[in-house]
Amino acid sequence: VLDIRKLYAQGDVFTYDPGFTSTAACDSAITFIDGDKGELLHRGYPIDQLAEQSHYLEVCYLLLYGELPNTAQMKDFEQRVTRHTMVHEQMHNFFRGFRRDSHPMATMVGVVGAMSAFYHDSTDINDPWQREVAAIRLIAKLPTIAAMAYKYSIGQPFVYPKNSHDYAANFLHMCFAVPCEDYVVNPVLAKAMDRIMMLHADHEQNASTSTVRLAGSSGANPFACIAAGIACLWGPAHGGANQACLEMLREIGSVDRIPEYIKKAKDKDDPFRLMGFGHRVYKNFDPRAKVMKESADEVLALLGVENNPTLQVAKELERIALEDDYFVSKKLYPNVDFYSGIILDAMGFPTSMFTPIFALSRTVGWIAQWKEMIGDPTQKIGRPRQLYTGETFRDYVDVRHR
Ligand code: ACO
Repeated sequence: VLDIRKLYAQGDVFTYDPGFTSTAACDSAITFIDGDKGELLHRGYPIDQLAEQSHYLEVCYLLLYGELPNTAQMKDFEQRVTRHTMVHEQMHNFFRGFRRDSHPMATMVGVVGAMSAFYHDSTDINDPWQREVAAIRLIAKLPTIAAMAYKYSIGQPFVYPKNSHDYAANFLHMCFAVPCEDYVVNPVLAKAMDRIMMLHADHEQNASTSTVRLAGSSGANPFACIAAGIACLWGPAHGGANQACLEMLREIGSVDRIPEYIKKAKDKDDPFRLMGFGHRVYKNFDPRAKVMKESADEVLALLGVENNPTLQVAKELERIALEDDYFVSKKLYPNVDFYSGIILDAMGFPTSMFTPIFALSRTVGWIAQWKEMIGDPTQKIGRPRQLYTGETFRDYVDVRHR
């Protein structure tokens, strides 16, 4: 029998940490999480204060440059972003190559990757100015690309950005305006969208951010790195959880069926998990979930659907789970995705758009982390080791003797 431990004892010493539960792969000054306290700070500022008093583009500035902007800096940043909201006209042709029924995340992975071809003038990662241009282009164009993916999937014409709107209102405009009708963005919905964007802006070394850093560590251009991050985010254990969570709440359908789903989630022979519950780092309330819950109440009250059955199931499910020994002992609390789907659904987004909205909101976090890494002269190519469990040396056997 091959004794792996003995074999490795003879070679290099390294840690074996599947899922990187206790390995830091970088240092970073952008975001701090205290999972036990349920605390999330961006550049030192707590997320609840930012969600209450700031707005998405200001948080983008903070994440990218480390400080809150003064009025002139904010104005300049807004102008730089809005100057880049349109996408290259040839990109429309690229979209048209996709099947209409593609998942918008599939389209986004392809289109954002293709930005390296459309904007190859800002792919020189050794030029700090080009890194800056690439960052602004990504932040500015991701809402346009996500809205185009949506419009394409429902067979409607693309809507060009409206730069007189703020970032979140412009995204709603591009998704819901149609050329034959007037569309006025509801300010309460725009504020709720801005808040969703802020709450998703960065979350230190989660799977997609680590993917962006790993891809970037090889010197790949920023558009390729962000496309890699989008691909990683798509999974239901990560960004895809908001879609999976709403689908689960709808499947439960009514509060009397909740115990059946709680039982399934606790059954170790059943792969089912309560979507929107649990987090690798938070072993307490996800501070973003609290803000999201308040937002869900505001939006549903505005739309006159406070009695929305999905919200009722969500609230009751949260109440029951938080009193259940299994969830309490494993410290499984609602995460940011638990309530975001309910808000997006009430706004009129199909579930397939939930993860693209997460992706466009997280782009600033990905790009801030990428810039931090590229600007660090000590950074190395990411190259994890492995614990080999295969065969030991053996000689090749000719096919006639196998
Ligand atoms: N429902 C039921 N049981 C759960 C859940 C859940 N949602 N989450 C974790 N558990 C259980 C596991 O079965 C495991 O039990 P065991 O110790 O008896 O084996 C224990 O809790 C620990 O779970 P792990 O999977 O080891 O924890 P990990 O940190 O790897 O996973 C994750 C975190 C992926 C978020 C997990 O909690 C999960 O799958 N949640 C549902 C999906 C989800 O909501 N994802 C969104 C995450 S937030 C974000 O990406 C923005």
